[in-house]
Amino acid sequence: MIKFTINGEAKQLDVDPQMPLLWVIRDIIQLTGSKYGCGQGLCGACTVHLDGNAIRSCTTPVSAVAGKNITTIEGLSANGDHPLQQAWLNIKVPQCGYCQSGQIMSAAALLQQNPNPSDEEIVNAMSGNLCRCGTYPRIKAAIHQAAK
Ligand code: FES
Repeated sequence: MIKFTINGEAKQLDVDPQMPLLWVIRDIIQLTGSKYGCGQGLCGACTVHLDGNAIRSCTTPVSAVAGKNITTIEGLSANGDHPLQQAWLNIKVPQCGYCQSGQIMSAAALLQQNPNPSDEEIVNAMSGNLCRCGTYPRIKAAIHQAAK
């Protein structure tokens, strides 16, 4: 039995401890905002927060989150009104949208640690989140706008 909290809700699950956290989040808890991209920790589409830090849920076994707090895009704000979510809408960041929940979760972890990041700090912090549509300039602009 593995116990953890997700988006403020306590869970107690009887699952294989090696099951990737992303599978647990999407298939068992049925929160589908976190996406499967590569399954190898290389693209960032599956990014969630573990005790406030951005992690790749596809390469994190569920056993690693026992007793900890997970936040997914669904739990980032009560009404989709986190400053980053508002900036994403204002600037119309997404194209296809697939990678964007992971982008926002990485950006949210960055702003928690560094409320006013430079261009270079944004590029470094976001370098593990890939976007095939090339929305990088808008992502950077939205992070700056949310940081204001
Ligand atoms: Fe997890 Fe690509 S799906 S990093």
